[in-house]
Amino acid sequence: MTEKTIAVIKQAIHTIENYPIDGVMFRDITGILENAEAFQATIDLLKDKFENQGFTKIVGTEARGFLFGAPLACAMGIGFVPVRKPGKLPRATYAQSYQLEYGQDTLEIHQDALVKEDKVLIVDDLLATGGTIEATTKLIQKLGANPHSAAFVISLPDLGGEEKLSQLDLNVYSILQFE
Ligand code: PRP
Ligand code: ADE
Repeated sequence: MTEKTIAVIKQAIHTIENYPIDGVMFRDITGILENAEAFQATIDLLKDKFENQGFTKIVGTEARGFLFGAPLACAMGIGFVPVRKPGKLPRATYAQSYQLEYGQDTLEIHQDALVKEDKVLIVDDLLATGGTIEATTKLIQKLGANPHSAAFVISLPDLGGEEKLSQLDLNVYSILQFE
């Protein structure tokens, strides 16, 4: 059952060579969203993996983290908290900068979005260097909540993200791994 499900999800992912720059193999998840069976299978698989473990919130990072985090939160019957790029959240925020391959970026969270009792599952489409989710983890910690686990549709282990996140004491799970 799970192997067949994973094959359905894998077949829906497109790979685009040399996008957005030369040398990158871009793993495009829009094919999952366009395919009802693959999209439902992705959410069902993550729900089966993480339900009944006491998670109280899902945190998803703009933009592709919203696409899987919000439906999973709905399926699990818990709330969803968006982490956004600067200037997009209307109430008081905390900000966290992080390193990109070239330069820096910043992410923000509403200061009142989590409480210290919250056990958080972070969701994103893809784990590469781990910079995005390291910054997201720090934002959750600023609110005093527990960033317990992080779930991805795709992980690229060669880029070091799994190692970086396990050093932060996060449980890391990905449905698929690509070189
Ligand atoms: C992509 C992807 C992850 C992140 C992974 O987002 O959706 O969030 O990069 O890379 P990392 O592990 O090296 O941090 P991107 O910043 O391209 O934004 P988008 O979701 O708005 O396309
Ligand atoms: N974000 C960072 N690296 C990526 C890749 N190879 N494919 C899709 N999204 C990415």
